[in-house]
Amino acid sequence: MNAIPPDADRFSLSPRDFDALARFIGERSGIRVPPAKKAMVEGRLRGRVRALGFADIRAYCKYLFREDGLDQEADEIIDAVTTNKTDFFREIEHFHFLRQTVLPRFAAEGRLEAEPLRLWSCAASTGAEAYSLAMTVAEFAAQGRSFRFSVLATDICREVLDTGAMAIYPEELIAPVPAALKLRYLMRSIDRSAALVRVVPELRRTVSFARLNLIDTAYHLPYAVHIAFCRNVLIYFEKDVQNRVLSRICESVVPGGYLFVGHSETIAGFALPLRQVAPTVFQRIEG
Ligand SMILES: C[S@@+](CC[C@H](N)C(=O)[O-])C[C@H]1O[C@@H](n2cnc3c(N)ncnc32)[C@H](O)[C@@H]1O
Repeated sequence: MNAIPPDADRFSLSPRDFDALARFIGERSGIRVPPAKKAMVEGRLRGRVRALGFADIRAYCKYLFREDGLDQEADEIIDAVTTNKTDFFREIEHFHFLRQTVLPRFAAEGRLEAEPLRLWSCAASTGAEAYSLAMTVAEFAAQGRSFRFSVLATDICREVLDTGAMAIYPEELIAPVPAALKLRYLMRSIDRSAALVRVVPELRRTVSFARLNLIDTAYHLPYAVHIAFCRNVLIYFEKDVQNRVLSRICESVVPGGYLFVGHSETIAGFALPLRQVAPTVFQRIEG
């Protein structure tokens, strides 16, 4: 009788299969998968191997690369390898800058009356960033002359977009939301033991979710945006991919609009039509 190999063996990728997977993931999503991430890929694909009933990851890779299973599995693989960590009001200085500098500037320029303010969370994950933007703008609108706005939230990963559209979050995730905003924009579930909250319908209506792959530079947004948040995604890309992604994003931001990148990200070395206005905040210039 054949002994069942321990899990570590069943889910260990051969160098050839790892290289093929890493190449595929890089080409499809831009996400770098260096050899140091082998264990991460193995861990994240376990569920897929089990769900499809393969004996081990070797059989799964045979299906992917030698039996034309790759097209079928492409989205599942990308969903599995994306890192979706996010938070409400993550990197809070950006929201302060938006509230204290960008929105008053737009108001003073008369832009908020001329047309709806359009924001884009371009690697939105489960929507915490998009709803934090919506809360910030809604608060500003409530304190002055009211204006219309919308937030487009896009991501390559399908699972997170579903969560974002539902807008239901565990209570511990909303800890960073200021108390006054929690009262206005979040509802507790009737079943208190569930410890869940949901974004109120009025705010949900301002945010829409769509799948968009940033490295597929042929994408078209429904409109150019005034404010783009592209945070904590560039770090997963090679430099040349970062350059392409950022160039395309710049084309989607109106002149005078703003681009925010993550605190650990840089645009240094790229020739982009941007001028820096604060740490990791840039304004789109003509060009
Ligand atoms: C770490 S999360 C960042 C979420 C949010 N921006 C924040 O800062 O909290 C990175 C997100 O980028 C997404 N992502 C990775 N590659 C992408 C691509 N090529 N196009 C669009 N989204 C991508 C992932 O699915 C993931 O949800």
